[in-house]
Amino acid sequence: MKRLQQLEPGLNAYTVSFDPSLLDTLRTMFDDFLKERLNREGYDYLFAGMEQINIQMKLEGLQFHITSYGTAPLLWVSNNNAHTYNIFRSFMSDLDIMDDIKELVDFEDHIEVYCGFFVVGKKMDRETWHKDFCDGANGYTLITPLYELEKSHGNLMYKDGLSSVKIHEYKMNEAVVFGDGFEHATQPYAETDKLRVMLSFTFGTDKFEYWDTLKETISAQSNFMILPCGHEKGRCRCYE
Ligand SMILES: [Fe+2]
Ligand SMILES: [Zn+2]
Repeated sequence: MKRLQQLEPGLNAYTVSFDPSLLDTLRTMFDDFLKERLNREGYDYLFAGMEQINIQMKLEGLQFHITSYGTAPLLWVSNNNAHTYNIFRSFMSDLDIMDDIKELVDFEDHIEVYCGFFVVGKKMDRETWHKDFCDGANGYTLITPLYELEKSHGNLMYKDGLSSVKIHEYKMNEAVVFGDGFEHATQPYAETDKLRVMLSFTFGTDKFEYWDTLKETISAQSNFMILPCGHEKGRCRCYE
């Protein structure tokens, strides 16, 4: 491994630091198309966290899908067409961690990026402990702040090898990357005026045989998604 640093021995979680300029394009995209809209009063309900939400936003060539599961006040703003996906994906190419990821997953030819997200919130009122992947999924999540977090904004809670709860503080220009077995939660925080915006990706194996395991946790996170085989979800005929 050249780029990834293991968070703790025995944990399927890593950190990687990167050049600040890698965030420029996605930050401009968020600033120009999403920030003002998400701060409108009419969208307050999006951050309440009490109802399941699925809405689309089309802005020039960009398309976003906004999901809230209704279980926590977090919005998953995902790429909803190929053009927007490609903009997200270029961050992952520039990050240059795929050779390291190849040491962690069973793959055929390359590591596929499934989906890009902005994960946006204003508060977190509870600890929603979970794992992002079922065992053997051969998939990973990346998460990194898009903007400097407020002091009060929640960090990453996780369980170490002895199941003790620890906190990893998010830093600018450092991403956390984790896969199956890694149990975590957003640290609860009181409501803030400033949005807490994280950049996130799902990515991993290009072997379609793992889709059954991957889809248990990731298939409902977004509308648009690239499957391990490289096809768009809903347009893949690999099983026919
Ligand atoms: Fe998670
Ligand atoms: Zn396919």
